[in-house]
This record gives sequence, structure tokens and C-alpha cells, in this order.
Amino acid sequence: MDSSTGNQEKISMSGDWIRVAAPATTSNIGPGFDTFGLAMNEPCDVIEGRIIESGLEISEVSGPGSENIPKNPNINSVTIAAEQVLKRCGAEFGIELKIKKGIRPCSGMGSSGASAAGGAFLANILCGEKLSPIELILCAAHAEDVISGGLHADNVSPCILGGFTVIRSYEPFDVIRIEPPANLGMVVALPDVMVATSDARKVLPREVSVKDLVFHVGNASSMVYGMMAGDLKAIGRSVKDAVFEPARVKLVPFIKEAEKEAMSNGALASFMGGSGPCIMSFYDADTDLGCTIAEKVKAVYTEKNIHCDTWVTRPGVGCKRI
Ligand code: HSE
Repeated sequence: MDSSTGNQEKISMSGDWIRVAAPATTSNIGPGFDTFGLAMNEPCDVIEGRIIESGLEISEVSGPGSENIPKNPNINSVTIAAEQVLKRCGAEFGIELKIKKGIRPCSGMGSSGASAAGGAFLANILCGEKLSPIELILCAAHAEDVISGGLHADNVSPCILGGFTVIRSYEPFDVIRIEPPANLGMVVALPDVMVATSDARKVLPREVSVKDLVFHVGNASSMVYGMMAGDLKAIGRSVKDAVFEPARVKLVPFIKEAEKEAMSNGALASFMGGSGPCIMSFYDADTDLGCTIAEKVKAVYTEKNIHCDTWVTRPGVGCKRI
């Protein structure tokens, strides 16, 4: 990547700034490792960009965890994804970017996925929206592969498409979007613990038993039914994971206590979001249980002197221009 454009030249060639919001997402959701994803309404990363003569340049990174986010465009998911879009569009210009993180890295809330999807989405607007949503997902998934140590598109798919997404196949890539029930309430609790996806992938088993496979297929199938039928109870009882969360539990202190507390206070399901450490809980948003669940899960960590942020949110529409 060429980031060496001179300042004087950039000023004369630069276009208007545009701005996009890229939301947090939760992935795996029990049985759907690397296949299920769900967009949240908030929090979001906000990415601004404008056309410059050439190269990709990050002029500003701010927000939670931004001190650890590289401005080097070769190792930043926003610019890696944006570069893929420019290449596919045959663009003969570069982009200057400002990144305002709303989702801190190593959270399990699709932080790098939001940056990648937002970078691809923004670059596509600057290119005259030449690429399809699926092409944007592939550009963003490439960035995820480079940054997080494994090709997975379960965060970037809902971040681009919104709603609940199922990756039926990676090769060839085939993703299905399903409109989740509007009353699927989501509580996110993020303790002050860092888990890098690349590390969390290293602790996974290489093989699974037929028994676990059968268990996952059954729960994954009923999850899809629950999302399509708007059956919150079916969704809740389908959040089951015999393989991945058990292997990662040791990376997230007190997660089992936190999940138990959520369930005792009316959650339909409580589970490790993505590769952790966030704890996701589903609840019926037609009730007012969301704030109570958030307080009770937070209290598990506060009692242990661990700071914990919470959000009470709902399914969202994915990346949008703001
Ligand atoms: N499916 C991925 C994993 C998501 O669990 O490793 C990472 O956010």
C-alpha cells in the first residue's frame, strides 16, 4: 500500500468527507461457530473518509482501545478492507480515513469486523457503490483473515447486511440474511478483560465428535427456525454450544457466574459473545428486564473489582451512512 502521498498534493486533490456507522455484532450464538452472526443497534464504530490522490492513509484513530490500533494501513482492518474495494472497483484514487472506535478491540463484539465492514462500506460509497453487499463482505472478510488469524465472515456479514446471518458455505461463499424478531432484546456485558480472537482460536479443538456434531446441527436448525418464526423461546433454548465456549471458558474470568446471574434474572439465553470476553444475554424486549439483567451481570464483575460496561440493545440494520 502506498501511504506516501505528499500533504500539499492531498490538499489540492481531496474530496468531501463522508461518514459511516458500522455496528457491533455478535457471532457463534451457541451452535453456529463461524456461521451465525447478528447485528446490534449499538454500539458502533464511526469511520470518516475522503478521496485523496493515491494511497490509503489513516489520519486519526480515537475512542476506547484506540491506543492499540495501528495507523499503519497494512495492518489496520479498515484500510485492508478499503484497499480490496478500491482494487475490485479499479479506482484510481486513494482514501484518507479517520476512525472513531465505539467498540473496543478484543471485546468479542466484532470490533475488527465493524472496522473492516465500515472501511469496505465507505470505500464503496466513494467508488460510486459499484460492489454488491456480498462483494463487500468478501473484502471485509479478507481483512478479518489478515488481522485475526483465520478466515471468518460471521461478524462482517451481519455488519454489512444487518439482521441475523447464516453462512451456509465459505467455498463457494453463500450467506443468507434472516430478519430477526424485533423484540429480541440483547444485553451485552463487557468486562475489562482482553481476549484476542487469534488467541481464542488457538485453544479450539481440531476435531469434534459425531455426538457434538448432532447436538450442534439440532440446535443450529432450531435457532434458524426461531429467528424466522419470531419464536424467542426457541431461540433461547437453541443457544447451546458443546464445543467452542467450553474450550474458551478459561479465557474469561467469572463468565459462568455472569451467565447464571443473567438466567436467574429473566434472560432467555446467556453466552460468550464471539470469541469473548463479552457476555451476551437475550431477553424478551417486550418486558423491561434488560436493565436488570445488565445490572446483575455487571455486579458479578464489580464485586471482583473488574470494571464492566453494559449495553441494552436490539437487532440492527448494519452499516449505514450517517
Ligand atoms: N467465529 C469467530 C470465533 C468470531 O469465534 O473465533 C470471532 O469474533
